[in-house]
Amino acid sequence: MCNANESKKTTPRVATGDRAILPEGAKAIPVYIMGKKYEVPETLTIMKAMEFAGFKFLRGAGCRGGICGACPTVYRMAGDYKLHFGLACQTVVEANMYLAQIPFYPANRASYDINAIGGLAEAIHALYPEVFRCVACNQCTKACPMDVDVLGYISAIKQGDIARAAKISFDCIQCGLCASRCLGEIPQYHVAQLARRVYGKYILPQAEHLQKRVSEIESGKYQTMLGDLAGMSKEELEKRYVEREREPDFFEGGKWMPKETQYL
Ligand code: FES
Repeated sequence: MCNANESKKTTPRVATGDRAILPEGAKAIPVYIMGKKYEVPETLTIMKAMEFAGFKFLRGAGCRGGICGACPTVYRMAGDYKLHFGLACQTVVEANMYLAQIPFYPANRASYDINAIGGLAEAIHALYPEVFRCVACNQCTKACPMDVDVLGYISAIKQGDIARAAKISFDCIQCGLCASRCLGEIPQYHVAQLARRVYGKYILPQAEHLQKRVSEIESGKYQTMLGDLAGMSKEELEKRYVEREREPDFFEGGKWMPKETQYL
C-alpha cells in the first residue's frame, strides 16, 4: 500500500513534446522553487516552469532532451516527507512540488591515463577505494532518474566484474544524484564511467572495420568528396540528398551494394 504521493512517484508524468506552447485551458498550479511560491501552467516541465517563473538557466540545462544529465532536480510533495528525484527537462510539474536544482555535484573524480591503467578491476579499486565503503543501502538506485541499478553496478565492480558493471551502467547520464545520496561518499557515476572505459579499451574485441575506416580518414581518402560537398549550394546539396542511392527497404542484410563504391 502506498500513499498518493508514492503512487505519483511510480508513474511520473514525463514530457513527450515541446510544451512551450500552452494548450488552451491549461490551469495554473502552485509550485515552490527554491522555497518561493510561483503559479505555473500545469503542462510544463520543471525546466520550462522555472523559465515561466522568471528563472534563467545559465547552468543546469543542456540538451533539454533527457540525455546530458545537466538538470538533476530534487523535489518533495507537500505533506510527504519523501524526497523524489528527476530531470527538470523531462518531469512535468505537479501542484505543490517543492523544487531545488542540483546542477553540479562536487564528487571525487580520479585522474588516470586510460592507456596506462590496464584492464583489471584492481585498477578501478585503486583509483576508487571508496567503493568498498558501500553499505548496500540502495539510496543511489532510488535517486537515479534513469532507473539504473546503481547498487548493482557498484556491487559488480567490487566483485571485479567490469563487463557487468559497464552493461548495467550504460544508461547513466552522469547527473550525480546517486552520489548526492551516498552514505559512503562514493562517486558512483564516475566509477561507472571508468568501468565503461576499461571495458571498451581492454575487454571488448577491437572493431577492425572501425580501425580501417579511421586510417582511411587519416589518409585523406574523403577530403576531395568533403571539399566538393562544402562547395555546393543549398539547392545542389538538397538535389544530391534526394537523388542519393538508398538501400531498399526490407533488403536482406549485407546483400545490397550501391553502384558507387568509391568511398566504401
Ligand atoms: S537538460 Fe540535458 S538531461 Fe535535462
